[in-house]
Amino acid sequence: MMKLKQFLIDRRENLQLAYGIFLIILIPSLIAYNTIFIIAKYNDNTDTILNREALAIGRTIYSSLQNSMGDDFATQEEIEKIYKRNSEFENIEVLIPEGDNFKVIASSKKDDIGKVLDFYYYTIAWDQPDNDAVATDSLKAGTTENGKSLANDTDTNGRFWLVAMPMQDANGNKKAVLSMKISSKTVDDLTDYSRNNSLCILLITVLITILFLSITVRLWDYVVLYKKIKQIDQIKDEFVSIASHELRTPLTSIKGYTSLIMEGTFGKIENKEINQSLERIMISTKRLETLVEDLLDISRLEQGRLSLKMENIKTEPIIKEIVSELAVNAKEKKLKLIYKKPEGNMPLVYADSERLKQILTNLIGNSIKYTEKGKVTVFTEIKNGKYQLKVADTGIGISPEGQKNLFQKFYRVKTEKTEVIQGTGLGLWITKQIVELMGGKIYLESIEGQGTQMTVVLNLATEEEEKGEKKK
Ligand SMILES: Nc1ncnc2c1ncn2[C@@H]1O[C@H](COP(=O)(O)OP(=O)(O)O)[C@@H](O)[C@H]1O
Ligand SMILES: [Mg+2]
Repeated sequence: MMKLKQFLIDRRENLQLAYGIFLIILIPSLIAYNTIFIIAKYNDNTDTILNREALAIGRTIYSSLQNSMGDDFATQEEIEKIYKRNSEFENIEVLIPEGDNFKVIASSKKDDIGKVLDFYYYTIAWDQPDNDAVATDSLKAGTTENGKSLANDTDTNGRFWLVAMPMQDANGNKKAVLSMKISSKTVDDLTDYSRNNSLCILLITVLITILFLSITVRLWDYVVLYKKIKQIDQIKDEFVSIASHELRTPLTSIKGYTSLIMEGTFGKIENKEINQSLERIMISTKRLETLVEDLLDISRLEQGRLSLKMENIKTEPIIKEIVSELAVNAKEKKLKLIYKKPEGNMPLVYADSERLKQILTNLIGNSIKYTEKGKVTVFTEIKNGKYQLKVADTGIGISPEGQKNLFQKFYRVKTEKTEVIQGTGLGLWITKQIVELMGGKIYLESIEGQGTQMTVVLNLATEEEEKGEKKK
C-alpha cells in the first residue's frame, strides 16, 4: 500500500500528463459519439416520416385513378396529368396480373406500356388488403427473394421510395396494382445539409474542447511550478536556519572578547576614542545578535519547530525584569517607562516565560523606538476571564493602512519619522506567531500622532493545569 502511494507520488507529474491526454481524447470522443448517434437517430426518424408520406401520396393517387378504372386510356391520361403536376414522381404505373407476373397497362414512361414485369414487389403489393400499401426505399429495392428481384430501376440517381398498392374496381374486386417511384431528393438534401451542419459544429466543439483542455493541462504546469516554489522556499528556510546558527558562534566570540577588552582584562584602556569605538562595536554586535535570533525564530516558526515551555507563571517579576532592562533605552530618549502594578493579586498565567520576555522586549522596545516624547506605560488586567497585557505609548502612532499590515513579515510603516529609525519589520510578526502559539491574541489601537496601545491576551492557568504543575 505504501509502495503504491510512493509510486504514485513519484510519478505524479507523468500521471497528471497522462490524465490530461486521456481527457483530451475522451471528452471530444464522447461529444463526437453523441452527435453521430443523434444524426443516425434523426435519419431513422426521417425515414419513418418519408415512408408514411410516400404511403399517403400513394393513396391520394389511387383515389384519383379509381374513377378511370377499367378504361386503360383514361387511366393513362390521368397518370400523365398527375406526373406533370408533381416533380417528385419519377414514375407512376398501373399493372394488371398476367400469370405469375404483372403487365404494365398505363405508365408515365410510355415505352413501358405493354411490358410484362416479374418483380416480387408487385406480388407483395397485390397481396395487400384494400387501401393498404407497401413502401420501401431504394436502399432495399435491390434485394431479391425467391430468385426474383424486389423491384426494377435500382440504379436511379439519388434515393427514392417505391410505393405499391392493390386497386379495386367499383364492385370491390381486385383488378390492378398501382406502383409509384417517388424521389426523396428534397428530404435527403435537407438531411445531408443538417448532417453536415452538425458535423461542422461537432468539429468546432471538439477543437474548442481540445483547446480548453490544453489550457487546463497548462494549469497543471502551474501546480507543478507551485510545488517547486514551495520546495525552494523550504530550501531557503533551511538555509536561513543554518546560516543563522553559523552566525551565532562568531558573534558570541566577538561579543565575549569585546567585553573582555572593555573590562580591562588585557590592560586598562586610557584612550577615549578606543573606548568609544569598543562601545559602538558592542552595540552593533548586540543588534546583529537580535537580528540573528529573530531569523532563527522565523525559521523555527515557519518550520513549526518552535517549541514552547508552557507553564503557570507569575508575570509580575517578568515584566519588572524587562522594564528595568529597557529603562536605559527609555532614559536615553528622555521617556518615562512606567509599570503600573495591578491592584491585588494577579492570578497565574499559562505561558512560556522566556517567550513572554521576548514579547515584552519587542512591544516595549517598539514603543520606546517609535515615541519621541512622553511615556510608555505597561499594565495588566483581567477581562472576560483572560489575562491582558498592555503596552501603551504617546508616540507617533500608526496609520490605518499601517495597522492592517503591521503583523506581516518585514513590514515597516514608511513615513518621514520612521525612516530614520532602525528596524527589520520582523518583531511584530514573530510576536504575533508566538502569542498565537501560546493560545493567545494580539491587537492594537492607535491614533496617528497620539500614540499606540498594544494588547496581548493570554489564558489564565486553569485549576487542573495548576494541579498538574504542582505534581511536577
Ligand atoms: N508602538 C509603535 N508606535 C508606532 N509604530 C509602531 C509601533 N510598534 C510598531 N510600529 C510600526 O510597526 C512596524 C513593524 O514593527 P516591527 O515588526 O517591530 O518592526 P521594526 O520594529 O523592526 O521596525 C514598525 O516598523 C513601525 O512602523
Ligand atoms: Mg520591533
